Amino acid sequence: MEKYIIQHNFSVTKKERSALKNHGAFLIWFTGLSGSGKSTIANELEKALFAKEIHTYLLDGDNVRKGLNNNLSFSPEDRSENIRRIAEVANLMIDAGLVVLASFVSPYREDRENVKRIVGYNNFIEVFVNTPIEECERRDVKGFYAKARAGEIKNFTGVNAPYEAPMAPDVEIDTTVVSVEEAVALILSVINKRFKF
Ligand code: PPS
Repeated sequence: MEKYIIQHNFSVTKKERSALKNHGAFLIWFTGLSGSGKSTIANELEKALFAKEIHTYLLDGDNVRKGLNNNLSFSPEDRSENIRRIAEVANLMIDAGLVVLASFVSPYREDRENVKRIVGYNNFIEVFVNTPIEECERRDVKGFYAKARAGEIKNFTGVNAPYEAPMAPDVEIDTTVVSVEEAVALILSVINKRFKF
């Protein structure tokens, strides 16, 4: 089928859309265990960017899995498809001129590499929220760790499914030693060095 699909190039370009907004368009990808603090930091970062009049959008695991990806499980294959679709959505949003924040467990290195390939290496910042599993489990905000330990949830990342840590993330945050405010400041300083604001 794919050979009968021909890309159409429209007149208004990404560059023109970006110029209109007066800031760059790129993806900030948060990866880490459930309960590590990804969504909390992403939320505060989005608020800080929004306050600077930057046009943002935040994609989050639980929300996306309720809609676009509601037919996907937590098997390795479905997680890959989950991440691939999110990367394609993020890519469209980047093309539209937005700063996209994405908060997903994304436990497989290969899947995260695929995100970089899809959006382009220059448009990608990886934030590894490296909170130790003991702390994530102690917090157990949603009660999922207890359920996974009791065998009620299969394939739960960190308990009975793997998490492959990033080798060279742009930012690494352990929320047991860094506050949310400090994490946001750290990410902003990295963004400021690489992108126009
Ligand atoms: S993945 O691995 O990237 O496809 O996962 P993601 O789309 O980010 O969804 C993670 C959220 O789903 C809940 N949940 C699970 N997480 C991990 N493993 C299993 N088996 C699982 N089942 C449900 C969990 O609440 C995750 O949300 P966060 O915000 O990370 O705690």
